[in-house]
Amino acid sequence: MVHTDLSGVYPFIGEDELNQIWLPKAGLAHKRLEEESEMDDGYAGWLRLPEQLCGNALDQIHETADCIGRDSDVLLVIGIGGSYLGARAVIELLCLENCKKKKTEVFFAGTSLSGRHFGKIRNYLKDRDFSINIISKSGTTTEPSIAFRLFYRLLKERYGASAAKRVYATTDANAGILRNLSAANGFTTFEIPRNIGGRYSVLTAAGLLPIAAAGIDIDALIKGAGRAQSCFSEKSHENPAWKYAAARQALYAGGKKIEVLSAWSPEYRYLGEWWKQLFGESEGKDFKGIFPAYLEMTADLHSMGQYVQQGERSLMETFLWLDAGCESTVIPYVEDDIDGLNYLAGKNLDYINRSALDGTKAAHISGGVPCVELKAETLSAGSLGALLYFFQISCAISGYISGVYPFNQPGVEAYKQNMFKLLGKRRNNHKV
Ligand code: PA5
Repeated sequence: MVHTDLSGVYPFIGEDELNQIWLPKAGLAHKRLEEESEMDDGYAGWLRLPEQLCGNALDQIHETADCIGRDSDVLLVIGIGGSYLGARAVIELLCLENCKKKKTEVFFAGTSLSGRHFGKIRNYLKDRDFSINIISKSGTTTEPSIAFRLFYRLLKERYGASAAKRVYATTDANAGILRNLSAANGFTTFEIPRNIGGRYSVLTAAGLLPIAAAGIDIDALIKGAGRAQSCFSEKSHENPAWKYAAARQALYAGGKKIEVLSAWSPEYRYLGEWWKQLFGESEGKDFKGIFPAYLEMTADLHSMGQYVQQGERSLMETFLWLDAGCESTVIPYVEDDIDGLNYLAGKNLDYINRSALDGTKAAHISGGVPCVELKAETLSAGSLGALLYFFQISCAISGYISGVYPFNQPGVEAYKQNMFKLLGKRRNNHKV
């Protein structure tokens, strides 16, 4: 399970202040979250989702993933924001170790309006059989809608009348243009429940179908999230989600406006992107909110490390550490030792990586950066399921502590209205 180590925060915020002020606030926020999850028109359906996904709930996803594996080299996932980042995070992290038999290559599109990028994907698909999973809760988001129109035409040119059988549409249970489009064309559909918003949807079909198609064990992912659900529902100052949320908000109140998440392997990049969206969209409103940034370690020690150590002191840092869970790589002994690395001979690369983390954390604390450390179990589908759930519940609690509603994103409409005006779009009432 996830453990929240606050020893690197206490030099900045006393344990007493956390216990007496911020952890009780986390308790109240948790209560509000539970109330939201019980409301008919609420948006916290994800809170109890893992326990609901038992029995045959995942059968349709398993069957479809198998079918895609049989007839496609590539599954083209078209979606943006919460409709792709969770799946991409899990796939990037687990594909190497956990895909027993590599089924289908999962490719992502619809995340930009770049013609160059579209052309690259079209070329890549030229000699490969492919299917499409279009994912959009609203069904009307501009980038994926355009990408779907373009790639569906390609699919029809390639497969003619049977093209529609290769389209899987994941969208709102009842409403939206994508649902109409699916009915008109006969696409297979999957539901995103009404009460689960995009950035909290990784454990719905939005995340699970692409993850399963990539050959990752979604049952283990859900099981891990289920363990997290029972663990983090505890009403206690020891609840790791309360501790993380409380520490963030205490530090924010003390002037730490930016949180950097540092993870210690390049495969965490999309988990970082998912985490940024989760926290940024949930908390950044009403002219407040911690700005979430991501550092890829140890690479960023050689670019952003300087700023973290000695730049403006408005940062807090969250170190994310999961044991690698793969074959260990040991540094060999070399007779001449010209590179001077024999002092590391016989040592495991992950041990060296962990030493880099420990050294960095001590340096950043002494440089005035409060540091949280999140330690999860060895990387696997189960531990990742637990970690995703941990971040979701921590984020919602943290948002409620700061006094915002963590489940909307009213600010994202502003640029769209300008863009549509420039492009001559007629007004409508859809979320786009
Ligand atoms: O968290 C959210 O709700 C958003 O970031 C959405 O995921 C994003 O805007 C994509 O929306 P949709 O799934 O409706 O295409």
